[in-house]
Formats: sequence, structure tokens, C-alpha cells
Amino acid sequence: MSTNLQENGEDLFALHTLRLTINGEPRRVQVPAWTTLLDLLREQLQLTGTKKGCDHGQCGACTVLLDGKRINSCLTLAVMHDGAELTTIEGVANGDELHALQRAFIKHDAFQCGYCTPGQICSALAMAGENHARSRADIREQMSGNLCRCGAYNNIVDAIEEALPACRGEFENAAPALLNKGDAA
Ligand code: FES
Ligand code: FES
Repeated sequence: MSTNLQENGEDLFALHTLRLTINGEPRRVQVPAWTTLLDLLREQLQLTGTKKGCDHGQCGACTVLLDGKRINSCLTLAVMHDGAELTTIEGVANGDELHALQRAFIKHDAFQCGYCTPGQICSALAMAGENHARSRADIREQMSGNLCRCGAYNNIVDAIEEALPACRGEFENAAPALLNKGDAA
């Protein structure tokens, strides 16, 4: 018979060991089965650049790259991703050198409070790898999962439009630490 602590003989509070590569660094972590990827990043690893907005897959603030593809980290459990490679906003710059997208966001004043910005930048990086955006309308459509409560959309699109060629170049050069499993088709 099940109890609060056991289901089919399994300890529901057992910790699961995961090996991840986060921003190029191998990490070994232990998490309960119910820990979301977002909570692992923010609460356990103190990678707080990734933001929790809605916690329900609606705002995109928690977007990170998982094996080169964008994902809402609030909607997925960490235990599902043993062996994965993750890039968060903390891993986008190259040391002190900002990424082309980060420079473009500054140049075009593409944020106000900045809360959505890490998710916007991670999402735009992955979008470049998807290589389907050909126009401003495409950028708007393909970035529609990333909401900005401050309404900086025009400036965000300006920034992404400017940085997109440089981002695509990264995928073509298969920058291994950042986007090594992206779908660059
Ligand atoms: Fe994940 Fe809003 S916090 S989509
Ligand atoms: Fe404030 Fe986008 S800059 S939510």
C-alpha cells in the first residue's frame, strides 16, 4: 500500500544524480524528481540570470538552450535531462566580450526593466540556429513565445534583426561550446 513517502516501493523523496554540462562546465547535481530545470538552475546552482516569470510556460522568461534548442525551463523536469548540454544567459558572452546579440540589445535599447531579456536573448540565439526567420515579421512570429511586459518589442526586433547574421555565422561555424547540437538546417 502506498504512503505519502512511497509509491510501488520507491522512495518519492529520493535524490537523483544528474550529469550536465552547463555553459561548457561539467556539473554533477542531485535533485528530487519534481525539481524543474528552472528551479535547478536558479535555486540550486544560483544561475539566476534565467528568470521565473509565469512558471507556467506562458512568458518565455525562463528560456534556455538545451542541446542547442530553446526550451521553457519551467516546463520540464531536471531528471529528464541527464547528460544534456545547457546554455544559460551566463554562458552567452565570451568572457568579457559580449555576444553580438547582447551588444545589439544595448545599442537598440531593447529592454526597460530587463526581466525578459535573458529569455529573449537565449530564444533569439536558438532561433538563429533554426534558420527560418527571413523578415521582421518572421522574427516577431518566431519570438512570440517571449513576452515583454515593458512592451519593448520594436527595439527587440531591431536588435535581433541586426545580430541575426552574426548568430547564424556561429551556427555555421558550429561553435561547439555554445550551440554544439543546434539544428542549423
Ligand atoms: Fe517559464 Fe514563464 S517562467 S514560461
Ligand atoms: Fe521589462 Fe521586457 S524589458 S519585461
